[in-house]
This record gives sequence, structure tokens and C-alpha cells, in this order.
Amino acid sequence: MSAPSILPSSAEWSMLSLAERDPFSIYDELRKRGKIVWDPGMNCWLVLSYELCKAIESDEGTYRILPVDAPPVTFEIKGDIADAPVFVSSLVEDEHARMRRFYLKFLGAALMPQYRVEHVVPVIDHMIGLFAGRGSADLASQLAHELPNRVMGSLFGLPWKDEALMADISRWHKDIIASLGMKYADEELNRKGQLASAELNKLYKPLVVERKERRGSDFISQIWSRAQEEYGEVGVDHILGIVRELEIGAADTTSNAIANAIYLFLSDPSLHEAVMRDQEGVLNAFVEESLRLLGSVQWRFRKANRHVSLAGVEIKNDDTICLLHAAANRDPEHFACPHTVDLKRKPPTDHLAFNVGPRICLGMHLARLLIRETLKALITRLPNLRLDPGKEPPRFRAFSHRSYGPLHVVF
Ligand code: HEM
Repeated sequence: MSAPSILPSSAEWSMLSLAERDPFSIYDELRKRGKIVWDPGMNCWLVLSYELCKAIESDEGTYRILPVDAPPVTFEIKGDIADAPVFVSSLVEDEHARMRRFYLKFLGAALMPQYRVEHVVPVIDHMIGLFAGRGSADLASQLAHELPNRVMGSLFGLPWKDEALMADISRWHKDIIASLGMKYADEELNRKGQLASAELNKLYKPLVVERKERRGSDFISQIWSRAQEEYGEVGVDHILGIVRELEIGAADTTSNAIANAIYLFLSDPSLHEAVMRDQEGVLNAFVEESLRLLGSVQWRFRKANRHVSLAGVEIKNDDTICLLHAAANRDPEHFACPHTVDLKRKPPTDHLAFNVGPRICLGMHLARLLIRETLKALITRLPNLRLDPGKEPPRFRAFSHRSYGPLHVVF
């Protein structure tokens, strides 16, 4: 007799019920229903197959991004106040490809060794230094959730050691992400998102104005110089929009990924040992497996531009499609032993954590660098690091953007 299904059989079941619960066993149950499954609560198709996610994300002619038909409030909350969209994530076709080339001038892999020394390592060292002498910490709230905002702050030339400022930025991001996560459908969340966005504009605009005339080595100065080389005349609002897209793009995506990698690292002593022994090849493979197995971003949306027939399912024009990366990254048709960490997978980067195709994440080199350097610093600075068995155990929290926490450790 087969094991009873943990997925309620009702056709009304929705992924909305997964908030705050571990989703992976449910994704496996859903997969038994098909590669594409309708979700009445989310009002969209859930795509669970690796190959289908990849095919959809690579075909922008058939499937469009949500910002194409998003209401103006979307752009306001994300921080775009220019007269034409400046977010790379809202642009399409040639303009999108051109903007991506521009972004890569300051987010390309070649710049990472410099960012590592000037921004990433100093921020990590400072943050670990705040609790290293105490013998215990919550690595989720005291480290993972602090790092990306501070590294971006360092890159932008903000006073990133200012605790009050950093707490404000985190709070504003939370409000923006909450409204984003509900596809801007909740009015109260939108109102909070708008207020948060206005605060972030108030913070960054004076910096953007100042750096127009007085360029330094910081990110905003580089964005000014590079934008003028690439686009000619650009305004303050354009540069501000780019800054805002980068700072929100880097925020909880990377915090969550760092927390998830730390959790995985601490949850299995054999992995812990393997990573400590080889902090180059094995550590890199481990980072990719943590991204594959524990999706910081669980899904992305697209819309169909026309009627399509996919894996036996009829998808109508304008239907919303949820590309469930976190499930596709454990698709047994693509990955052998999909739920297991395999440090020898080839190629290690063959997952969808950063998406694939024309919209693959522009910040992925920086994100990988942050995860890697955090683990290296923990290994070097906190000997005998382990989860604290006497404290609340970590859970895979939240919904669309997820991370393990709390991460109470002793060392
Ligand atoms: C582990 C951390 C991160 C994860 C999991 C992640 C994930 C993603 C995903 C899935 C997309 C595709 C969105 C879509 O196609 O709908 C994306 C796009 C993007 N990401 Fe990230 N991201 C991370 C870190 C970062 C960082 C650090 C930055 C900036 C410094 C960044 C900037 C962007 C930008 C600008 C795009 C838009 C690309 C485009 O539309 O062409 N991300 N990211």
C-alpha cells in the first residue's frame, strides 16, 4: 500500500497554505499531479519541472515578465521616478539587453576580487567582530540579515556601521518586499511600500546629486560615469532608479541565501568537515548546492502572450505562470538524488536559483562572493561552531522568499 498523500485532495488546495511551513515534501506531492498544476488561490499555473522552467524563462517572445503590464504603483514602490522605466527588470528586448551590458560593467565577475577586498571582507569582519567574543550568537539576525545591506551601503559610500540607519533600511526593504510578494494587490501593504520607497529616495537622492559633480571610487560615482559613456545624457532620477533596483535586488535574496548556506553547513557534520578541508573547490560546490536545495527565491512569475499547450496543459493567453524554481531545483528528472547535497554534481551551477536565459540574475557574482566569504570567515574566526541544541531550532521561514532561522549557535 502506498503512503497516504500529505496533500489535501481538494481542488481548492493552494500553495498559499505553505507560508511558514516546510514546502519541499508538498512540492514532491504536487509533482505527482503533473509538471504543471493549477493553483486556485494563487490564480496561476505552478511549473514544477526543471526543463519547463528553463524553456519558459528562455522564451521571452511567448512568456512576458509581469512589469510589462504592472500598474504605476509598482514602479513607485520599487523606486523608479524617472519619466521612462530605468529598471533593467522592467525593460524588454533590445533595451533590456543593452541595460544588462551596462549593469555588467559594475557587476561583472572580473570586479569581484576588488569588491572582496574593499567591501565584502571588511563588512563581514566587522559584523563577526561584534559577537565573536561572546561564545554564542544568532547568525540569522546578527550576521546573514545584516550583510547584504551593509555591503551595498559600503559600495554606495553610505556609513554602513551606523546601526540606526541600517535598521531603517532593513525595515523599509521589508515593507517593499511585503507588497511585492503580494503582486501589489494589497492596498495597505502598498501604502507602506510607498512610504518606505519615499524614505529610500530621500536617503539616496542627495548622494546621487553629490556624486554627479564629485566623483569618487564608490558605486554611485561609477554608475554616473558608465551611464554617461553608454547612454549620453542621463538624469539624477535615472541614476537613482538604478541604485534603488540594485539595493533591493541584493537585499533579502542574498540575506536568505547566506542564512540557508550557514544552516546547511551546520546541519551535517560531514559537510562541515568537507568544506573546512577544501575552502576552494569543495566550498564553491557547497555554495551551489545550498542555492539549489534551499531556494532563497522560491519562484518567479511570467504571463503567457498567447494560447500554449505545455506538458498536456492548455495555458490561455494572459494566464499567469509561477516558475517554481525551488521545486524545479529538486526535479528528479533532472537531478539524481535531488534532495541530497552532492559536492560532485557537474556542472555545479546547473540550477535555477538565479534564473537562466536572458534574465539571469545580474548580481549573482556578488551574491556568490558574499556567501563564500561568510562561510570562510565563520570557519576561520569561530572555531568549533555548532547549532545550539538548547535554543529554538531553525525553521525554513516565510513564503516566496525563504530562509532558515533563527540560527542560534555556540562556538
Ligand atoms: C542569492 C542571492 C540572489 C538571488 C537568489 C537572486 C535571484 C534572482 C532571480 C531569480 C532573478 C530573475 C528574476 C526574473 O527573471 O523574474 C534575478 C534578477 C536580478 N537580480 Fe538577483 N538574486 C540575488 C542577488 C542579487 C544581487 C546581489 C543583486 C545586485 C547587486 C541582484 C540584482 C538583480 C537584478 C538587477 C536582476 C534583474 C535582471 C534582469 O531582469 O535582466 N540580485 N535575481
